[in-house]
Amino acid sequence: MDETQILPKGRMNLKPGSTHAFDREKSRPWGEAPALPAEPKIETQGLSAYFGPAKVLNEIKMTIPANRVVAIIGPSGCGKSTFIRCLNRMHELIPGARTEGAVTLDGKNIYSPETDLVDLRRRIGMVFQRPAPFPTLSIYDNVVVGLKLTGFKKKEALNEIVESTLKSVVLWDEVKGRLHRSALALSGGQQQRLCIARVLAVNPKILLMDEPASALDPLSTIKIEELIHELKRNYTIVIVTHNMQQAARVSDYTGYFYLGTLVEFGETKKIFTTPEDYITGRFG
Ligand SMILES: Nc1ncnc2c1ncn2[C@@H]1O[C@H](COP(=O)(O)OP(=O)(O)OP(=O)(O)O)[C@@H](O)[C@H]1O
Ligand SMILES: [Mg+2]
Repeated sequence: MDETQILPKGRMNLKPGSTHAFDREKSRPWGEAPALPAEPKIETQGLSAYFGPAKVLNEIKMTIPANRVVAIIGPSGCGKSTFIRCLNRMHELIPGARTEGAVTLDGKNIYSPETDLVDLRRRIGMVFQRPAPFPTLSIYDNVVVGLKLTGFKKKEALNEIVESTLKSVVLWDEVKGRLHRSALALSGGQQQRLCIARVLAVNPKILLMDEPASALDPLSTIKIEELIHELKRNYTIVIVTHNMQQAARVSDYTGYFYLGTLVEFGETKKIFTTPEDYITGRFG
């Protein structure tokens, strides 16, 4: 993909005259984020990550404001997925993997020994690149599987949660007549919205999305992007993407990783439109 071509110094090659910088206003019918200062929701301090002896993230310092969308971009292998997996302590689930440094959520270090990991991963939900609904479960049960696992059984309340969550991911009208059929009968884009519904059903505060639209067709991609914009009213969102136009469209802040280091972090509108730094065909 040409968006991720790397120049020798690790600069991302946005071709001179490319539309990346200019499409943003037109392609964002919803406009800019409200001018109100956002509270910091997540902060990382000296966050490093290792696979065995290999250090793949290098002392990342980032502040992620509440109710904003942060895009994480950079070439393949630079540590984007690892970074967001450190934000809900999924990185350490890989044998031999470990982290150093701190990640605070609402001011509390999630790496402190008191952290309840099940609760943490409920509060910081994750959506993956390939939609993976539970194949043996119905659409309905895919939404509430997390709640049912915690022993929540009230049918009326579950019905309400299924309806409101599917409405919030703009899937309700497409599936309301077949809630008890297999989730596998849905299209890829519908399955991805279902997976987002599954995460939302347990009432998280933060959504981590690892290339959530990269396996989808353009129309489904637009739906996911519109959804991200809607969801930021209630959630703080961190999205990894290889699609620079998508980063420009959906995010308020952008972080550019290169070889495990955060080399640039700032307001998306500045990163994508400041002529002296970026339009000359360089991005970094
Ligand atoms: N399970 C693993 N074991 C060992 N090394 C790994 C593992 N997963 C990733 N790595 C290495 O960690 C580094 C960062 O990988 P990561 O998956 O975070 O990159 P990425 O930026 O998400 O790449 P992509 O854009 O291809 O998804 C890479 O050098 C990769 O080879
Ligand atoms: Mg990745």
